[in-house]
Amino acid sequence: MKQILTIIVLVITTAVLGWTLRSYLSNVSPSSTEGETSTIQSSKYDNINVKTIEYRDNDGRSLLNVAYPVTENEAVNHIVENFSQEFIDLFYQTAADQEEAYQKYLAETGMESYTTITHYTQHFDVSFADETYISFVFDRYLDTGGTGMGITSSKIFNRQTGTEIPLASLFTDEDYLKRLSKISRDILYKRAEETAKNLDGSEQAISEFIISRKQAIDVGTAPNAKNFDTLVVDESASLIIYFDKYQVGPGSDGIVEIRIPIEDIADIITPKLRELFSISKPLPPTTVIPPIYPESSNSEVDCGATRCVALSFDDGPSIYTNTLLDTLKEYDVPATFFVLGRSAKIQPDTILRIVQDGHELGNHTWSHRDLRSLAGDQIDEELGKTDDLLYSIAGIKPLYLRPPYGAFNDEVLSHIDRPIILWSVDPEDWKKPPYAELVRRMTSPQSGAIILAHDIHQSTVMAIPEVIRELKKQGFTFVTISDLLDGPLHAGTAYRHR
Ligand code: NI
Repeated sequence: MKQILTIIVLVITTAVLGWTLRSYLSNVSPSSTEGETSTIQSSKYDNINVKTIEYRDNDGRSLLNVAYPVTENEAVNHIVENFSQEFIDLFYQTAADQEEAYQKYLAETGMESYTTITHYTQHFDVSFADETYISFVFDRYLDTGGTGMGITSSKIFNRQTGTEIPLASLFTDEDYLKRLSKISRDILYKRAEETAKNLDGSEQAISEFIISRKQAIDVGTAPNAKNFDTLVVDESASLIIYFDKYQVGPGSDGIVEIRIPIEDIADIITPKLRELFSISKPLPPTTVIPPIYPESSNSEVDCGATRCVALSFDDGPSIYTNTLLDTLKEYDVPATFFVLGRSAKIQPDTILRIVQDGHELGNHTWSHRDLRSLAGDQIDEELGKTDDLLYSIAGIKPLYLRPPYGAFNDEVLSHIDRPIILWSVDPEDWKKPPYAELVRRMTSPQSGAIILAHDIHQSTVMAIPEVIRELKKQGFTFVTISDLLDGPLHAGTAYRHR
């Protein structure tokens, strides 16, 4: 009996060891498992490399893309690695559950279910770095079955000692959470009231709107450490607080950020935090930047004499954009990308490739909010922050704006300093029509059409090769927006086609 027990224990131990070793190997070796790869690249910061772990399985239904920093300090790396591994573990668990649901649905109905995908991404940014301190902001996006969740958090380290600096230690006042809560509420209440001003509806409906917004804000800004787990110091001497998607408002708000000028909280910050504020990084210029464009490969085309069409892709860059760029390169087709600042920030390399491949970049705002619901300074920020970022990445200021949802009014217009580009063909690709239907909707344009599509959807990206082949067969030449419209365009005027 004892012997049998020993054998069982041995077998179990071996199995557990084997499993642990396998999962350990899968994290360090790029080719030891089917779908997972990991790479290490240098970054623009001294002594900081970027480790990227990617996993793809189940025909793209399960996708993981996790990036985290690797510094010169092992203790820092250990904390960051564990933090990232928790996210990776959650992905594998969720992906397995979702895939089981997918297979079950398929077996029962014979149909694919789009609500069973699992796409997780984690990116990070260095919010400041000097010899002693380094601070990271981690952006996570969890798309489970089409429902996206954005989570953001920050970590500050002493890179000499390798210790994490608790956010609380940056404040002298133990009631700092109460102060941050109060300040955040004031700012967010004011925003909700501004938004309400632009609503159509009865007085009662508007007051109910404000009340429900304020309730959400109260919950999301209650003075506890979890609500204030993402604090960032920036170059303009502000403390930025990030709130997760849904934390202080509806999902359409995305991740919400507020800025508190340092002088408003000067009485409660420690000398250490003040020291961090004094670190200044050069900002990209915010003044007028002369637009710089690479010569489009088709600039010889005369769309007055030839059948031209312009493909435009919105809401990216995404994890599918590189595949799309491969396709466009293969067929030698230029396109125009209306990108979101917040996505460009996490995929600067993709932005650079868009430009280097000869495509055109347009501004689609920072966070894809309906501009009609924003106050003037928020509109300026949605546009300006995106311009500044794209300039800092690619040296280009976008010539055109495509407002989210194509939505604007007179108030919005007064803040738009460039031509507005809409579209004449909308295949509603975001509704994920069947493949053949999607191709059909995109392949019967008028000459001079602007086709709208979204490179955040795998189904769209997968259909593009056939769309290109079909349109070429019909004699269309692909051009960028600039080549299509090719004329003096006016700021604040909307263009839908040539
Ligand atoms: Ni959009």
